[in-house]
Amino acid sequence: MSHGTSPTPLAARTASPLKGTVRVPGDKSISHRSLMFGALAVGRTTVRGLLESEDVLATAEAMRAVGAKIVKHADGSYTVDGIGLGSLLEPDRVIDFGNAGTGVRLTMGIFGTHDIAATFVGDASLSKRPMGRVLDPLRQMGTAVIAREGDRLPASIRGARTPAPITYRVPMASAQVKSAVLLAGLNCPGETTVIEPIPTRDHTEKMLAGFGADISVTVNEAGERVIKLQGQPTLKPQDIDVPADPSSAAFPLVAALIVPGSDIVIENVMLNEHRTGIITTLIEMGGDIELVNRRSAGGEEVADIRVKHSKLKGITVPAERAPSMIDEYPVLAIAAAFAEGDTFMPGLDELRVKESDRLAAVARGLEANGIPCVETEDTLTVTGGAKGLGGGTVVTHLDHRIAMSFLVLGMAADKPVTVDDGAVIATSFPTFTSLFNGLGADIRDAGGVAA
Ligand code: S3P
Repeated sequence: MSHGTSPTPLAARTASPLKGTVRVPGDKSISHRSLMFGALAVGRTTVRGLLESEDVLATAEAMRAVGAKIVKHADGSYTVDGIGLGSLLEPDRVIDFGNAGTGVRLTMGIFGTHDIAATFVGDASLSKRPMGRVLDPLRQMGTAVIAREGDRLPASIRGARTPAPITYRVPMASAQVKSAVLLAGLNCPGETTVIEPIPTRDHTEKMLAGFGADISVTVNEAGERVIKLQGQPTLKPQDIDVPADPSSAAFPLVAALIVPGSDIVIENVMLNEHRTGIITTLIEMGGDIELVNRRSAGGEEVADIRVKHSKLKGITVPAERAPSMIDEYPVLAIAAAFAEGDTFMPGLDELRVKESDRLAAVARGLEANGIPCVETEDTLTVTGGAKGLGGGTVVTHLDHRIAMSFLVLGMAADKPVTVDDGAVIATSFPTFTSLFNGLGADIRDAGGVAA
């Protein structure tokens, strides 16, 4: 699971106009949750279109370690034979989550209110990330924790035998924290309440309702979302079709906008309102983006996205939009490099604790490729329109979205752009290189570039 032992440098050179119709892989957030909730249900859940990336496969292993039977079938679908909420077995091995923050944090929530002990490890990136944001509410529910200093991985937990439901106000805009508390609440008697001052992606709420949990969402007088979950439901297995991941779609979306002559269609992309900030932003910047064939699938709206090369202009991205495009700022920064004027992105504090310090990683990558930018503690300003872009090597810090974003830069830059490690892309978008080269890009191994 762990990266870093054999980095694979990749380089992207100026692409021909990108043309064609593509389908990016299944949504990562929904894929993780399909396996987890399937494992907690009684009976057989079927998942079509599961994202088969390292992050999601780590979640499959974790669910197998507590007794779920997860099988891939000849038609590409997966079945999950659930062990049932409250009946998880104690894992007989260390749970290795590799690079996967969502996987480890949500799983800690699930295990934390089961009467089992478990030890979690991750790669060098995951081991730097803060786990206190989920371990703190779990401690309140009765989970015992032994973690490395600063509540980092490796960490061991002993789930509470008699867990206590809590009311928890999420202190930062984080769907992972919200979800971890709700998933811990599943195996508590009584009602767990999560108050969410800043709305984030709501896949956990929607999918738990689909699996038959008694969960309600209201908005209080202060405008905060209040989520109430009744504990100890019997979860019913589901048939799930995972729509394409809007966060992965953002890469061909931006690439088509900045590579002259491009005209592509990205099919079946999920349009959950908490995920579409990047589309809104790119349209505001002047992007020729059309959502066609809008339809509903499995409780989510989906559409095909037609996007053509466009003349972009710099804008200010409202800070309150950040949660709905939190994973898309690195690739937005690349679009901004081709826009006229400045693009100002405030409200980016959470980017500091992603797979890398994404704010710093983006700024260093832009600088290495001749793109003027200003980084503050929680903002980024990118000045578009510079000439002679590219030629740099970008340090990816085990961050898949840094690697993919700067390869997109290379497609439209004057000189090739190299990323020190393309292997990390497998954590979320294993078909990235073949998909792009099929559209007309030129991404190749750049062997010999030191990591
Ligand atoms: C995710 C939540 C977000 C996002 C991550 C997936 C989820 O993380 O960045 O890629 O599936 O709940 P935070 O909760 O840390 O913002």
